[in-house]
Amino acid sequence: MRILVTGGAGFVASHLCERLLSEGHDVTALDNLVTGDRRNLGPLRAHGDRFTFVEADLIAGIPADLPAFDRIYHLASPASPIDYVELPFQTLYVGSDGTRHGLERAQADGARFLLASTSEVYGDPAVHPQVESYWGNVNPIGPRSVYDEAKRYAEALTVAFARYKGVQTRIVRIFNTYGPRMRANDGRVMPTFINQALDGQPLTVFGDGLQTRSFCYVTDLVDGIIRLMESDLTEPCNLGNPHEMTMLDLADHINRFTDNPAGVVHRPLPKDDPTRRQPDISRARAELGWEPQVSFADGVERTVAWFRDRALQG
Ligand SMILES: NC(=O)c1ccc[n+]([C@@H]2O[C@H](COP(=O)([O-])OP(=O)(O)OC[C@H]3O[C@@H](n4cnc5c(N)ncnc54)[C@H](O)[C@@H]3O)[C@@H](O)[C@H]2O)c1
Repeated sequence: MRILVTGGAGFVASHLCERLLSEGHDVTALDNLVTGDRRNLGPLRAHGDRFTFVEADLIAGIPADLPAFDRIYHLASPASPIDYVELPFQTLYVGSDGTRHGLERAQADGARFLLASTSEVYGDPAVHPQVESYWGNVNPIGPRSVYDEAKRYAEALTVAFARYKGVQTRIVRIFNTYGPRMRANDGRVMPTFINQALDGQPLTVFGDGLQTRSFCYVTDLVDGIIRLMESDLTEPCNLGNPHEMTMLDLADHINRFTDNPAGVVHRPLPKDDPTRRQPDISRARAELGWEPQVSFADGVERTVAWFRDRALQG
């Protein structure tokens, strides 16, 4: 198939491109590099002319001269809290205008469209673990709202294109994902802790550290995303690892794994930081036959090894 991946130079989407290329598809990655990294394209270029990189801003549109696509995976969006607070309008516009361009292109090409949504649509959840039928608890004017509400709007737009224009759509709600190619300084807890530990620094834990997250290794996520795209499931689908842990437990694991004696240091909790996050993945299990395969210990080992190599490369 001929496949467009928006945000293809980013963390998750570059792994997605790699997997799609390895399955024999022709892949076009579109990215304006606002939070992506050209180095992520290296392994993709190894696939020769089956891979194309288009440097473009999705907010402005998808270049008309690109050939028709069979599938459009829409992952372009600033994704870490540091990024979307620094890039509030990019975040809002790529979620609104960017999603519209992707959907219009899907309609014109007869392509199937998948939206990368997020567990943040559940906000600070009153239902735990989070099931897809839960409508969420989002502060519409808080500092995170540019991201949360952009994704909620993107879901509404995607459903409207399916309902009123007949476009084939899929929606994945992604929970915290980690792995190689995250940016060391993107503010997300996993790369932050790993890089602090590799530098022999204390790990910065927000608040009392008893808030929880559940971490999915990136290749597991990519597998679920492709299964969803190729399934008949048109309802939103959670993908994530249900293994929930506190930030103190995570810090402890990383300090022990890296032999970092520096411990942790506590910092004030950011505003609207969700207290709990754990996906209910019953739907993905039942409809996609999917569940995470990479253990937490293996995933951390691979990610630490990658950050070590990256540090050596400078
Ligand atoms: N990583 C996670 O834990 C996680 C969790 C929930 C949802 N998601 C979603 O998955 C997707 C990928 O996230 P990621 O963690 O890989 O982030 P990332 O920042 O590494 O990747 C996003 C990519 O989108 C590109 N981009 C942003 N705005 C663009 C625009 N206007 N035009 C073209 N390209 C643009 C960036 O340059 C970057 O390469 C995002 O949509 C994000 O919301 C990720």
